[in-house]
Amino acid sequence: MSAASGAYRGLLDKYRHRLPISESTPIVNLYEGNTPLLPLENIPRESRVDADIWVKLEGLNPTGSFKDRGMTMAVSRALEEGSRAIICASTGNTSASAAAYAARAGMRAFVLIPDGKISLGKLAQAMMHGATIIKIDGNFDDGMRLVREVAEEAPVTIVNSINPYRLQGQKTVAFEVVESLGRAPDFHCLPVGNAGNISAHWIGYSEACPGERNCVTASCNFCDGSCPYASEPLADSRPVMVGYQATGAAPFLRGHPVENPETVATAIRIGNPQSWDLALAASAESGGWFDEFDDAEILATQKLLAEKEGIFCEPASAVAVSGALRDLKSGKIPAGSTVVCTLTGHGLKDSDAAIAQDSAPMLTVKANRDAVRNAIAGALE
Ligand code: F0G
Repeated sequence: MSAASGAYRGLLDKYRHRLPISESTPIVNLYEGNTPLLPLENIPRESRVDADIWVKLEGLNPTGSFKDRGMTMAVSRALEEGSRAIICASTGNTSASAAAYAARAGMRAFVLIPDGKISLGKLAQAMMHGATIIKIDGNFDDGMRLVREVAEEAPVTIVNSINPYRLQGQKTVAFEVVESLGRAPDFHCLPVGNAGNISAHWIGYSEACPGERNCVTASCNFCDGSCPYASEPLADSRPVMVGYQATGAAPFLRGHPVENPETVATAIRIGNPQSWDLALAASAESGGWFDEFDDAEILATQKLLAEKEGIFCEPASAVAVSGALRDLKSGKIPAGSTVVCTLTGHGLKDSDAAIAQDSAPMLTVKANRDAVRNAIAGALE
């Protein structure tokens, strides 16, 4: 099957020379990546915030979250290495993505999820794609520990972000941001859970910036000094990386793992992030910081984005915008800055969380013209 030359065929194809793949790597993809970078229009004006705030709509990836960037990479390499099955622990999005890419590759997927603590949309995805779903009476951190233990003896490849290929795929988000803006932003704000994504963003920005190509993982084929894109710099600076967590699951704010993480933003309900050191390094090297928001603040920003901008992201994603707005108002992020927020997942993933907010005016009327007309007139009053 062939497509017009120049047609977009996913990020492994586009960034082939910047990723640890070779001619013989079988590419498993769903044409992920290439997501819109959209400016916020109404919120900055109405909140009297003087900055260019852009949102990277990662919820428009094939399975509805940024995980697809890492999964195309990890599953392609797993297949190349002869693996027949993949496994992950997940708060939902990784399992949805793993299940989809395993289906595409003709592999088995095993997903460990915290029973009752992942959104139904994400569970539905894993079920539809035919993953074997293992519910545990524990949280994500328990699942992660079990996956590590089991993978030592079972013939399964871990596709959580401790698999270094995951971060390699996810770093491409930074390339796209730089290409869209024509430069690196001044600040990049994003939610932090297991901390892989903030680490991957930093790898990507570092590789896009000449003189800063200090690859953090050892997995890149080009770390022998023959890096082919030394000759094609994208940006002349790197952003300050700012990571936000939910108050009930904020190990980076506490300075140590959190025993029983709790938040409505179930995607980031994580107490013991696996990429702890990489995330701390990204924060320190970029001059960034971490901050936290409680559930009410997170949900309020999710609603604000939906109502004021027409953008429906999941609660975990909204925390990036909560943070950007607060830090701009306090001056921590200076006025006039160019700020990018990664909106990591689509709001439809967690329709329960949205409906539970229950603030939309919902009217029930008789199925006749007068009743509907009166309802509209009443609402317009
Ligand atoms: N936003 C969403 C929507 C997520 O699903 C996740 C992580 C994050 C943010 C945090 O990213 O872990 O790289 O710091 N979800 C994982 C999962 C843990 O299992 O789906 P991170």
